[in-house]
Amino acid sequence: MKPDSAAILGQNPIFEVVKRLEANDLKIIAMKMIHLTQTQAEGFYAVHRERPFFGGLTDFMSSGPAVVMVLEGENAIARYRDLMGATNYKEAAEGTIRRDFATDIEKNVVHGSDAPETAAFEIGYFFNAFEINAR
Ligand code: CMP
Repeated sequence: MKPDSAAILGQNPIFEVVKRLEANDLKIIAMKMIHLTQTQAEGFYAVHRERPFFGGLTDFMSSGPAVVMVLEGENAIARYRDLMGATNYKEAAEGTIRRDFATDIEKNVVHGSDAPETAAFEIGYFFNAFEINAR
């Protein structure tokens, strides 16, 4: 069953996502469940502030818990983006997370950094150095 919200444990596909990460050699080196306030969601998605979907996206992302992770692996950004699939789940390839579980372009289940610079900002938004098990 597709989840209504990407963020409610028990209804979301978190375990399936973790399984796919592990099967694809993307090592989880930090992970926690959070529940963003609207202001925190707005800060995370600040680059999209002028976009028409900003309100809906930040409403949704603050509507329930979310699991945030830091992934490590060879070419991790590109490989995780391949696993996620296109932003619009209707355009995502067969077998991708979004194709399999998303219900709406704004409720597309997973997010992934698109470059090392955005990863640095996004990791720092949720984790401090002591919470990341990098060796
Ligand atoms: P992501 O790319 O992970 O982060 C920004 C999010 O904004 C994106 O996932 C979608 O959830 C949402 N988004 C991007 N483009 C659109 C759009 N055209 N319409 C609605 N939501 C969008």
